[in-house]
Amino acid sequence: MNPTALHDLHVKRRDARTARAFEDRRRAETSALLSSVAARAAIALHGTPVLLLDPERVRRQYRHLRRTLPFVGFHYAVKALAHDAVLDVLDDAGCGFDIAGGEELALLTRRGVDPARIIHTHPIKKPAEIAAALAAGVRTFVVDNDVEIDKFRGAPPDTRLLVRLAYRSPHAKSDLSSKFGVGPFEAAHLVERALAAGVTVAGFSYHVGSQLDDAGRFAAAAADTLELMDILERRLNVQFDTLDIGGGFPASYDAEAAGVDEMAAALRPVLEPHARRLDIIAEPGRVMVADAMTLVTSVVGIAERSDGRWYYLDDGLYGSYSNVLTEDVHPLVFAERDLPGSAASHPAGAAGHRWATLAGPTCDSSDVIAREVMLPDLRVGDLLVSPTMGAYTTVTATRFNGRPFTPVAVLGRGPVTGEIAVASDARRLPIV
Ligand SMILES: Cc1ncc(COP(=O)(O)O)c(C=O)c1O
Repeated sequence: MNPTALHDLHVKRRDARTARAFEDRRRAETSALLSSVAARAAIALHGTPVLLLDPERVRRQYRHLRRTLPFVGFHYAVKALAHDAVLDVLDDAGCGFDIAGGEELALLTRRGVDPARIIHTHPIKKPAEIAAALAAGVRTFVVDNDVEIDKFRGAPPDTRLLVRLAYRSPHAKSDLSSKFGVGPFEAAHLVERALAAGVTVAGFSYHVGSQLDDAGRFAAAAADTLELMDILERRLNVQFDTLDIGGGFPASYDAEAAGVDEMAAALRPVLEPHARRLDIIAEPGRVMVADAMTLVTSVVGIAERSDGRWYYLDDGLYGSYSNVLTEDVHPLVFAERDLPGSAASHPAGAAGHRWATLAGPTCDSSDVIAREVMLPDLRVGDLLVSPTMGAYTTVTATRFNGRPFTPVAVLGRGPVTGEIAVASDARRLPIV
C-alpha cells in the first residue's frame, strides 16, 4: 500500500473510532435519562411520542457560555425552542432574549421580562410589529435595507439599529447570507441613510450560518466586522457601541461538533480587547437547547420493502423530526433495546441487527426520518429514542395528516430531595 493510501486508511479508522466513542457516550446518556423515574412517568402519562425536556441542562449550558465568554451578553434566540420552562430558567439566570416576531415578544412580556433585555433581530418587520415592540419598550432592532430604516423614522430617540452584515458560509447547514445582510459598501450607505433619517445606528450584527462547525469562521467574521466598524467610525465620524456576533454555534447531533470551549478559544482573542469599549452580544439558539430535549417514539408498523426492513414510527418529519427537514440535521435514533442496562439489551452491531429505514407516521412519501440505521429486530410498540431534539423541533412541527403536536414533559428536580419530578406541558407557539 502506498503511503497516501495508508494515511487515508489510518484517518478513516481514527474517524470511525471517534464516531463510535461519540455514539457510545450518547447511548449511555440516553440510557440514564430513559431509566429515570421521571422519564418512565412521562412515558406512562403520555404514551408516545413524547419529548422529555430538562430545563436544568439549558441553565447549565447558559452558565457554561457565560463562564467561557464572560464579556458577551447572551440573548437566547427564542425561535429555537419557545417553551415556558426554557424561558423561565433563562429569565431567572439573567439571560437576554432575541426575538423574530410578535408571538415571541408576547411570551416574554407576559412573564414580565424587562424589554431592555430583548432584541428584535429579524431584518424585515411589519410596521405594526415594530410599533408593538416599541410600545412594549424594545429598543434594539436589526435592519439591512433602506425601506426598513425608513420604518424607524420618528421612533423614540433611544431606538438603536444594528446593521446586519452578510458573511458567506457555504459549510453551514443554513447559510443565511443570501436572504439577509449586506456587504461593507452597502453597510456604509445604510449608516448614512439612518443618520439622515435621524435614527441611531449602534453597531452591526451578522449570523455566520447555522450549525457551522468551524470556530475559525466565527473568529474571522468577528475580526472583519471590527475592522469595518473602525473604518466607518473614522470615515463617517460616528461612534458605534454594539457588536452582535449572532448565533450559529453548532450542536452535536450525530457527531461531535466544535464545543462552546473551542468557540470561545477562537473568539476570545478577537473580541476581548474590545470588550471595554463595545457592548458585545450574541444570539445563540440551538446550542442552548438542543441537548436539553429527548424524543421517545414507538414502532407503529413494520414492512419488508424491496430495499429492506422499514419501521414506521409515531413521530416524523412533519412533527418533532422537522429538524431533519428544515435544518438538514441527522439526530441519532437508538432502539431502547440497544441501550446499556435495558432489560433486552444487546450490543449494537451484534447478530440480529440489520440496516433499516425509519419513516414517520404520515402518508406522505417524503416522511422518512433516516435510512440505513443499524437496529435490532423490533416489534410494534418497541421504543426508540433520539437525543439532541431541543432545537427547531416543536417550533417547526405541523399537524399535517391530522396528527396532534407531540407533548413536552418537563423534567425537574425537587428543591429539597433532588428527586426528579415530571410536569406535563404541551403549551407552544401556534404554527404560523
Ligand atoms: C437572526 C438569528 N439569530 C439567531 C439565530 C439562532 O441560530 P442558531 O440556532 O443556529 O444559534 C437565528 C437562526 O436562524 C437567526 O436567524
